[in-house]
Amino acid sequence: MHAVIGNWKQNPATIDEVNTLLDSLLAATEDQDANDQHCQLMVAPSCIHLTGVSARLQNTSILAAAQDISAHSSSIGAYTGDCSAQQIADAGATWTILGHSERRQYHKESHQTLVNKVNNAFEHNLGVVFCIGETQTQYDDKQTFAVLDKQLAVIKDSIAKLKEQHIDSKKLSEDLIIAYEPVWAIGTGKVPTVEEVSATHEHIKQTVAAFDKALPAVTVLYGGSVNTDNADDFAASTMIDGALVGGASLKADSFLAIANAFNRAKS
Ligand code: 13P
Repeated sequence: MHAVIGNWKQNPATIDEVNTLLDSLLAATEDQDANDQHCQLMVAPSCIHLTGVSARLQNTSILAAAQDISAHSSSIGAYTGDCSAQQIADAGATWTILGHSERRQYHKESHQTLVNKVNNAFEHNLGVVFCIGETQTQYDDKQTFAVLDKQLAVIKDSIAKLKEQHIDSKKLSEDLIIAYEPVWAIGTGKVPTVEEVSATHEHIKQTVAAFDKALPAVTVLYGGSVNTDNADDFAASTMIDGALVGGASLKADSFLAIANAFNRAKS
């Protein structure tokens, strides 16, 4: 699968601004021929905007994703401030981002928390965009693969649990995306080289394949300061299946230019 996903984070500030962004996205994509689309487009608004965004994206080529779900319960419960997988799916989302470095940093998300979240998502048929990435210090210390392996252990444990429930490997591979986002590249304008990202993605694909021999190749996206200037370079690598875009996804023009770069390269 190829995908370009906009992670809107805690943006935009108002529903009016959300609708303006959607107006531009929909106007630019409604006339596109489905046969020319080789990349799945997705946007992940904040939880409060998810219902409205999903409603407007119904019957369009763009999917709605959440940015997080509750670890505590997949359904209902006394968990103030949380939104469950069931509620997110009911709001119209078909995917959720999990384990973003900002969640790991500001909410101290642990291995077990993330295993619970992944399992809760799959229980309600939400696809998972699982984020992993090393810090600047870890990168400088050449610890990238070791850090990613530790973070990917969440996927290993989740797959083991899902296998007990006889979940089909093909379905699992269709519902799982790994997003490699070096923490030092997020919002900084600094990016690793395409060669570095490609080698890292190859490592991720091999690592996940070893968790489940029956799992077809997993989709791996790159995220971190992807913009209209560097999108073509990343898209040209066969190891880079798409992008998870932050800042540049808040403007329809730049998001769609990035999406088009991947669409062209993956055609
Ligand atoms: P930027 O594209 O703003 O660097 O953010 C990347 C990101 O964190 C997407 O999840």
